[in-house]
Amino acid sequence: MSRLWHRARMDDYRALNRGFWDDRAPAHAASNDYAFARFVHDPGFLSHVVRFDVPRLGDLTGLRGVHLQCHIGTDTISLERLGAVMTGVDFSPVALGEARTLAERTGSAVDFVESDVYAAPAAVGSGAFDLVFTGVGALCWLPDIRRWAHVVAELLGPGGRLFIREGHPMLWALADPRPDGLLVVEYPYFEREEPSVWDEGGTYVETDVVFEQNVTHEWNHGLGEIITALLDAGMSLTALVEHDTVPWEALPGQMERVDDGEWRIKDRPWRLPHTYTLQAVKRG
Ligand SMILES: C[S@@+](CC[C@H](N)C(=O)[O-])C[C@H]1O[C@@H](n2cnc3c(N)ncnc32)[C@H](O)[C@@H]1O
Repeated sequence: MSRLWHRARMDDYRALNRGFWDDRAPAHAASNDYAFARFVHDPGFLSHVVRFDVPRLGDLTGLRGVHLQCHIGTDTISLERLGAVMTGVDFSPVALGEARTLAERTGSAVDFVESDVYAAPAAVGSGAFDLVFTGVGALCWLPDIRRWAHVVAELLGPGGRLFIREGHPMLWALADPRPDGLLVVEYPYFEREEPSVWDEGGTYVETDVVFEQNVTHEWNHGLGEIITALLDAGMSLTALVEHDTVPWEALPGQMERVDDGEWRIKDRPWRLPHTYTLQAVKRG
């Protein structure tokens, strides 16, 4: 992996990042990791990410839910299978094409809508939802966490709930794996105006596809910044769990697979929060 640092024009980030995701979505949909065939053949099958949080998600029956940055729809359809009436939002038309194909093949009624996150209330309706779900590689694509928190609050009706499972900002701040095995803090923990600019050819599923659109602009947001942004947007924090596992091999060569299919660093995993699940409700 290589990460380039320079001051980039903010205007570029959407086009660059959308190109990156458009390029990868078909390979993701074709991969074993996203398990499209399992979704089609087993109507009770849930994505790994949703299955991990079933005890915390609770009963979703009848809730109107929106999944921000829904990618190819596997988590969105899983939430529908838990009883919610779901809408998925993403800015990648190619990812949404794959999501609609999966919905058609599984008989899902999820409505997939093309929109930038920051424009989601205009695209799908202010105050129209009981549940906003997001996560696992979502917040790092957004330059301004406070603006995102206002979007979440605007989408929800009073008492509505936000549910996030996300990579921990401490994990995002670490240097790439080193031969000496040390965990080194190399990249921003706090949100900065300028993006981290990456040029990275691969992806997180197993695939032979060679990608052409590889430059991305990303931002980290500290846990305190995320929580404060939500509080200031009119949300109350109701749950926060930091996990010592992550759904993908985030530090290749330094991690082992654990019982539930997640990954954990082999050496003293108690040093590092890998991911977190956060819940908040909109104040009345
Ligand atoms: C890592 S994927 C999310 C993965 C998801 N948790 C999953 O595994 O299905 C990130 C998604 O965010 C979307 N995205 C990135 N920036 C966005 C933006 N500004 N507005 C809407 N969607 C965005 C991308 O198109 C991509 O589908």
